[in-house]
Amino acid sequence: MQKVIIDCDPGIDDSLALLYALKSPEIDVIAICVVCGNVPVGIGVRNVFHCLQQCNRLDIPVYLGASQPLVVDFVSAQDTHGLDGLGESNLAKEVIDLPVQPMSAATFYATTFSQPTDIAVIALGPLTNIALALTENPKVGLHMSRFVSMGGCYKSHGNCSPVAEYNYWCDPHAARQVYQTLQCPIEMIGLDVTRKIVFTPNLLSYCQYIHPQMGNYLAKLVQFYFDFHWQQEHLLGCVINDPLAVAYFIHPELCEGFTTYVDVETESISRGQTLVDRYHFWQKADNAKVLTEVHTDQFFIQFLSVLLDAPAQTIAEDLTLWKIG
Ligand code: BDR
Ligand code: CA
Repeated sequence: MQKVIIDCDPGIDDSLALLYALKSPEIDVIAICVVCGNVPVGIGVRNVFHCLQQCNRLDIPVYLGASQPLVVDFVSAQDTHGLDGLGESNLAKEVIDLPVQPMSAATFYATTFSQPTDIAVIALGPLTNIALALTENPKVGLHMSRFVSMGGCYKSHGNCSPVAEYNYWCDPHAARQVYQTLQCPIEMIGLDVTRKIVFTPNLLSYCQYIHPQMGNYLAKLVQFYFDFHWQQEHLLGCVINDPLAVAYFIHPELCEGFTTYVDVETESISRGQTLVDRYHFWQKADNAKVLTEVHTDQFFIQFLSVLLDAPAQTIAEDLTLWKIG
């Protein structure tokens, strides 16, 4: 089993990603770090405990991370995820409030990665915790087995400005520091691929038929996200970005892309934009793998089979034969 630390800001799609990761037999989630992003960090911690409780995994340590970006003012995405980060579903109201670990998320990374390990990091939120860890220990990236980041965009338009994706826009200085200094190839799961992952009302109904308990839970979680996407872009359903980062981590064949040098703009109207130097104008050494293609059907087969405790073969037949999507 591949050991992994998940850095997140739950968030509706982070919560889906956490449930998926916690239920996936291929990975061992050894810790969860929380960062401010979709919601203030304290709300994010509460939502992490809710996900852990849902999966009977309250044994996994939770580390409190940054409560604000490195330089810019903090702007949450509660318009997208609801004031509680869970689509105002109230799902976390009965959460068991356990204490977080005494160490900060940044110090946890700095110590965990003070020597070579076989531990990977999947970052589903702004990169503030990782940047702070790099400041404490510039070698953290050298000692992790893989680093997958949901963020950025190459040819796709942004989702919070014409050119910027939220995670990198929220803390552009952290994103820039991580791209410039991590020394571990950054596997960038950006909007080019995540925009294709649309969880539709049809798929939700399918989940309710196959696994009523999980299906009804998902219905409560995603309704706000459905409404947001309809109002914002007349999309029926919602784009669930973060579970793709986990799925790609487990099944790299789900996405294709290219390696290149990536930098992040920190200022002005292009704040948070990813500059993907595909044709090597800058002659800089590659620091990233930018994923641009995704096998959407295969993603949903993997994701739903884990979430719904159903054989992948059954899901595959239903989705492809009956064209549920
Ligand atoms: C990213 O921003 C957040 O709103 C989501 O959780 C995801 O990580 C998509 O831009
Ligand atoms: Ca997120």
